Amino acid sequence: MFLPYAHQSIQEEDIAAVTRALKSEMITRGPEVEAFEKEIAAYCGAQHAVAFNSASSALIACCHAAELGPNDLLISSPNTFIASISGAFHFRATPVFVDIDRETGNARVDQMLQTANQPTSRGKPVLIPVHFAGLPVDVKTLEDNLRSLDAVIIEDAAQALGSRYYPDGPRIGSCAFSQMTVFSFHPAKVITTGEGGMVTTNDETLAHRLRRFRNNGIERDPTHLTGEAKSWYYEVQEISNNLNFTDLQAALGRSQLARLDTFIAHRRTLVKAYREQLKDLPTIKLLTDRHDADTAFHLFVVQIDFPAHKTSREQVMQQLKAAGIGTQVHYIPLYLHPYCEGQCGDLSDYFPETESYYAQALSLPLYSDLTLADIERVVRELKKALGL
Ligand SMILES: Cc1ncc(COP(=O)(O)O)c(C=O)c1O
Repeated sequence: MFLPYAHQSIQEEDIAAVTRALKSEMITRGPEVEAFEKEIAAYCGAQHAVAFNSASSALIACCHAAELGPNDLLISSPNTFIASISGAFHFRATPVFVDIDRETGNARVDQMLQTANQPTSRGKPVLIPVHFAGLPVDVKTLEDNLRSLDAVIIEDAAQALGSRYYPDGPRIGSCAFSQMTVFSFHPAKVITTGEGGMVTTNDETLAHRLRRFRNNGIERDPTHLTGEAKSWYYEVQEISNNLNFTDLQAALGRSQLARLDTFIAHRRTLVKAYREQLKDLPTIKLLTDRHDADTAFHLFVVQIDFPAHKTSREQVMQQLKAAGIGTQVHYIPLYLHPYCEGQCGDLSDYFPETESYYAQALSLPLYSDLTLADIERVVRELKKALGL
């Protein structure tokens, strides 16, 4: 059987939940979405949750809610998916990357602070820490040390539903140290709704802005209308798009959420097995195990010294594919993509740690339906591909 690098876990109860929703009155955004929002907010310990059709849409909505504009900086990691920073280009802010820590794959908090705290007479810093592979960024330190009163923190937790910041600390998504947090429910993530995203926040004003932006800038709340409230009346107060999430997706999300803790526990067991079986190989570097007890693992990334094995990443990936094992590279540094390079120029000299990480990164299969026997097979084939 082919083992992809990531895969959804769909059970009979998920199918039954979606079928139930399909037979109900509302199949667009209705009571299931509202219930899913409440459940995610409760799980994370946040006051509000607003569902979107993807985390990409949700991140744009957060930048809009934070009033990101042309004088502002958007500070984030280069080791992520483009959606983490798309807002900078949408709203004509200046994107600023900082180098990563190869132990975690996350952007360095000290460098984010250094950039954000530089004195400026223009604009505000909007920081988007990305919890890579589920490993927590120290957002508390970030928040504690930001000097600008206008600074906004939007956490990209697309990969981190269920992780905690530190042992017995708040869950990511509680917004204990940030204004907003974004999750993704893409099938590669720990729980899925097909496509989908969610923002959590403790700020009522931000939640309201997010909801209006989600639905083509439409306002129905009598307390926010400029005209007289009537049963049929609404106002378009800004131009946005249809970014709605549906009851069909929410039904799947609720059914998956009920198994989230089981998924997380199993993924931790799989990661432990990988660690055990790869620990004596000096040319393979693993991400730190410091956060293992707090992390809901989305990806399992290794860093391999390919030249030491007289091979290349491409060759190893092809060999693994032929053996029925899917792998992927997370990530091509964002500044190397033609669009970003066109906007920002060649930045590769500024990020030595990101560059050396990128040369060696390889994501091995990790998903909730994977077995310990599968892990043994992956490690066996990987060793074979490396000539070990
Ligand atoms: C770090 C990160 N941010 C944002 C996204 C965008 O998520 P979505 O696919 O739900 O738009 C992803 C998903 O690939 C991601 O991994």
